[in-house]
Amino acid sequence: MLVVSPGFSVLSEDFAADPYGYFPWLRQSAPVHFEPAIDGYFLSRYQDVRRVLTDHEAFTTETLQVRAEPVMRGPVLAQMTGAEHSAKRKIVVRGFTGQALQDQIRVIRADAAELIAPFLPRGRVDLVNDFGRPLAVYVTLDVLGLDKAHWPQVAAWHSGIAEFITSLVMTPERRRHCLDCAEQLEAYLLPVIEARRRDPGEDLISRLCTAEFDGIAMSNREVTALIINVLAAATEPADKTLALLFRHLIDHPEQLAQVRRDLHLLPAAIAETLRYTPPVQLIPRQAQQDVVFAGGTVPAGATAFCMIGAANRDPDAFTAPDTFDLHRPDLGTARSFTAAAQHLAFGTGLHQCVGAAFARAQIETVAALLLPLLDGVRYSPGFHYRETGLYTRGPAGLSLDFTPVG
Ligand code: HEM
Repeated sequence: MLVVSPGFSVLSEDFAADPYGYFPWLRQSAPVHFEPAIDGYFLSRYQDVRRVLTDHEAFTTETLQVRAEPVMRGPVLAQMTGAEHSAKRKIVVRGFTGQALQDQIRVIRADAAELIAPFLPRGRVDLVNDFGRPLAVYVTLDVLGLDKAHWPQVAAWHSGIAEFITSLVMTPERRRHCLDCAEQLEAYLLPVIEARRRDPGEDLISRLCTAEFDGIAMSNREVTALIINVLAAATEPADKTLALLFRHLIDHPEQLAQVRRDLHLLPAAIAETLRYTPPVQLIPRQAQQDVVFAGGTVPAGATAFCMIGAANRDPDAFTAPDTFDLHRPDLGTARSFTAAAQHLAFGTGLHQCVGAAFARAQIETVAALLLPLLDGVRYSPGFHYRETGLYTRGPAGLSLDFTPVG
C-alpha cells in the first residue's frame, strides 16, 4: 500500500493524478478524512457511503442549495424530498423509459453512425473529443427536444454549469463565468418553454410544461431547473463511461475478444466499468446531526463527500476489487442498472440516478455499433492516457487507431 505523508490532501496534485492509488490507504487509515481547506469530510468505505446515501434523516441534500442551485436557476430534483420529489421524478423518468426510450435508441444509433462516419476512412478517432462528447450532448438535446444545430453553444454553457457543480475550489472569476453560462442558457430556454406550452410535442420539455404537480403546472423557473438538471446529469457521465469501457476492454484483450464474439456481454462490461471506474466520483450530503462512524465522526452541519470510486473498490464489498472482470460473480449485471445495484456508481437511496436504464441502453447501443467498425482497435502511437477530475472523472482524450474502413 502507498505510504502517505501526514499532510495528505484530496486537493493535492498527487491525488488528482491517481486517486485509485490512495483509496486503499484512505479506507484503512483515514475512512472519515477531514479536508480543512474546504471544511468537508471524505468517506471512502463501502458501508459508510451506503449509510450516508440511504439514511435520509441524518444526511440531506441541503448542500446543493449552494453547490448546484445557482447554476440550475432553481431547485433540482436531488434537493427535493417527499411528494414533490416523487411526482417530479416520475415525470422525468417517463421521458427516459418505455416507448420514449425505444424511440430515443433509434435516434442515438443514427446520431452515433453520423458522428463516427468521417473518422472511419482515416482509421483514427479520439473517442472522447471527436465522438463521445458531441454524441452525449446530441442525445440529451434530442431527449429534451432542443435543436441539435445549437449543440456547440449548449455544450459551452453546459461546461460552465458542470464546472460550477464539480469544483471543490473556485476563483471569483471562474464563478462569474459559470453563472454567466447558466444565465445565458436560461435566456435561451425561456422562449422554447413558452413555445412548448402553446404547442406541446412528445419531448421532455413538453412533458415538463404540461405535467401538473398537486393540480398546478410547473412555473418557467421550475421547468428551467429540471431541464438544466437533466442536461447536467445526463451528459457528462455517459460520455465518460463509454470512453472508460473502451479503455478497459483495450487493456484486457481477452475480454475485448469475448465481447466482440458475443455482444450480449456488453451490459456486464458496462456494469463492471461503472464499478471499477465510476464517472461520478463524489456525491455530497449535509449531516443533520453528529454521525459516528467506525473511523470518525461527521459533525452536524458538515458536508460529507461520498467517495464512490473508493467505495466501489472496497474489498469488504467486492472480491479482488482492483481487477477489471466482466464475469465477476459479485456484481450481477441485471440488477446493476436498478435500485438493487451492488455498485454505487448511480448512487443509492431516494436520489439514485433516474437515467440508469437509459444510460445502459445508450452506451450499449453505441458500443455495439462501434465495436464491429473499429477492427483491430488499439491506442494511437505516442498516445499518453490521462484522467482528469475529482468530482466527475474520465479520460482527457482517447486516441484510437483501427483498420480504416474503405
Ligand atoms: C453512466 C451514466 C450515469 C451515471 C454514472 C450517473 C450517476 C448519477 C448519480 C451518482 C446520481 C446520484 C446523485 C445524488 O445522489 O445526489 C445521479 C442522479 C441523477 N441522474 Fe444520473 N447518471 C448517469 C446517467 C444519467 C442519464 C443518462 C440521465 C438522464 C437521462 C441522468 C439523470 C439523473 C437525474 C435527473 C438525477 C437526480 C435524481 C434525483 O435526485 O432524484 N443520469 N446520476
